[in-house]
Amino acid sequence: MLTQWARRGAGPPGSSIETVQPLGVHHVGLAVADLDEAVESYTSLLGGVLEHRDVLPDQGVEAASILFGSSRIELLAPTGNDTPVGRFLAKRGPGMHHVAYEVEDVAAALADLAAAGTELIDTVPRRGLFGLQVAFIHPDAVHGVLTEVVAVARLT
Ligand code: CO
Repeated sequence: MLTQWARRGAGPPGSSIETVQPLGVHHVGLAVADLDEAVESYTSLLGGVLEHRDVLPDQGVEAASILFGSSRIELLAPTGNDTPVGRFLAKRGPGMHHVAYEVEDVAAALADLAAAGTELIDTVPRRGLFGLQVAFIHPDAVHGVLTEVVAVARLT
């Protein structure tokens, strides 16, 4: 578990914008068709350790996080075709879905990103997988990759 919190620092030279300073990559999210099969592959084949598994019916997803040392991947399977991950699978097939960066404060990160003119999917933090506070940045703002910011402090 990380014990050091991120600090917010100066932006580019001449800029008054404070930049988001992530603590690190928290996880990489992968879209999969079958969660049981994916968990089996990533634990038995690749040697990961199952950390959590959860269903979020309101988000249409069943998820598992798998630890590889201090690194983590998040496996995401849709609970139906008409869900965000279901539509992603239909359009793109299984594979990389998003990258999540750990920040100290999701609301502060969103404020900094909005001040920099970044296109956001979530303008306020919401409850993500495993009760964590998360928000998503539009892929068009970050070179085509759906991007998540996550804080380890849980939303109550
Ligand atoms: Co995620």
